[in-house]
Amino acid sequence: MHWVVKTGLFLLILLAIGCESKNSDATADPSATPTASAVTVPPQFQKGEAAFNSNCAVCHGIGGVGTDTGPPFLDRVYEPNHHGDQAFYRAAMQGVRAHHWKFGNMPPVEGMTKDLMVDIISYIRWTQRQAGIH
Ligand code: HEC
Repeated sequence: MHWVVKTGLFLLILLAIGCESKNSDATADPSATPTASAVTVPPQFQKGEAAFNSNCAVCHGIGGVGTDTGPPFLDRVYEPNHHGDQAFYRAAMQGVRAHHWKFGNMPPVEGMTKDLMVDIISYIRWTQRQAGIH
């Protein structure tokens, strides 16, 4: 066979393989993509999730996605090297003066204990890992 024909055949085969893999992508289950909300919260983080939902989610959003009254925790600025666990204790116990965003101040959260915060923080870190923040 002439090399031009050979190369042409080879390219055709490559094209065919390319199309096939495209098709299988299109039929892939979109819920298989890992996002904080699509994945079931593992049992060890569910206590923290419940405490987060009743104390923090009103401003920081279910799953930490943020609302118009508070910033998202799925933002790199809140990964452990920027805002370590101490920053979370301090925020919940003492409140936060607005400095990173335009949402205003965060008031201290009533009824917070160190134990509850341990659970809340491990839940937040889990959502951050799901979102690929750290
Ligand atoms: C009433 C709304 C509101 C509630 C409820 C709330 N926050 Fe906040 N939070 C904010 C706002 C607004 C900011 C952003 C302040 C700024 O501009 O940096 C913030 C910032 C933070 C920060 C960043 C602190 C820093 O050092 O920059 C942490 C951590 C935090 N919140 C944790 C929590 C946790 C944990 C809870 C639940 C126990 C909670 N927040 C509940 C409004 C809220």
